[in-house]
Amino acid sequence: MSISTPINEQISDFNNWVADLQTRMESVLDAQLPATTISPMRLHEAMRYAALGGGKRVRALLAYAAGEFCGADLGKIDVPAAAVELIHAFSLVHDDMPCMDDDDLRRGKPTTHKVYGDAMALLVGDALQSLAFQLISQDKLLKSATQKLQMLHILALASGSRGMAGGQAIDIESIGIPLTREELEQMHIHKTGALIRAAALLGAYSADEPDQEKVTAIDHFAKSIGLAFQVVDDILDAEADTHTLGKTAGKDAKNNKSTYVTILGLSAAKQLANELHANAMAALSFYGREADCLRHLANFITQRSF
Ligand code: IPE
Ligand code: IPE
Ligand code: MG
Ligand code: MG
Ligand code: MG
Repeated sequence: MSISTPINEQISDFNNWVADLQTRMESVLDAQLPATTISPMRLHEAMRYAALGGGKRVRALLAYAAGEFCGADLGKIDVPAAAVELIHAFSLVHDDMPCMDDDDLRRGKPTTHKVYGDAMALLVGDALQSLAFQLISQDKLLKSATQKLQMLHILALASGSRGMAGGQAIDIESIGIPLTREELEQMHIHKTGALIRAAALLGAYSADEPDQEKVTAIDHFAKSIGLAFQVVDDILDAEADTHTLGKTAGKDAKNNKSTYVTILGLSAAKQLANELHANAMAALSFYGREADCLRHLANFITQRSF
């Protein structure tokens, strides 16, 4: 894209980039997930059901955009991006279970536990999580053991009790108890923001020697856009319909959850999403066209309809 490329053309280029990389991520995951012909077949079938054939792949897109920004080859970003998508898919399978949000619909299909039962869904989550770490540890394209170790460390921190699982624990423990704005922010930063931040950082570290100023800019960008992501998820839960979302609308209110909509109201929640979007953009202000893909992605995240 040149400086004079009209905005419509830029958006259309970005939309093509998104579609190409969503397709690419689907084939990377397809190739890396165990085949249904390998024992235990039903677990492998259920893992593929949970991880393939749906999802916006926002975390993979962030990894690709951050990686390209830092000069990584696309091929090197495949496995780290897939690893984050696997952790995300695992978190969704468990999030939907009756002991958590009790949801029947995900990505326009019955949830994994609805099709395969609770016990198998639990194991699907466990196995997808392990596979994510296995893939990075055995990736032949990553340059050194140090690079892999750094990625494994980032992903482990973002997934565990100080990241996604910790945020989910706050979520579950606060059902029916209105959170303060600060508590709500902590919950969202952990349950959703942490993995989004990890996705961007894994993309950046897919480059052999990423420029540290770029890594810092990406980290600040991802911190803001990660929180914005969950603010928008809260808004969509309150405003969108089940068909568009591919998951049951209105579940937060039904489950008595504190969200940005219940704490701030719809209009202030939208205002906050805009502010976080602006903060994310500001983190890239030092950079020119090379950061455009990240900028488009920030728009994509805050303007999405599902
Ligand atoms: C849904 O994430 C769960 C949250 C962390 C809010 P996404 O909206 O990214 O779900 P998919 O992957 O596109 O289905
Ligand atoms: C889910 O938040 C966050 C994780 C899965 C870690 P939500 O419970 O709001 O996600 P949805 O709305 O079910 O996708
Ligand atoms: Mg939840
Ligand atoms: Mg949920
Ligand atoms: Mg939600």
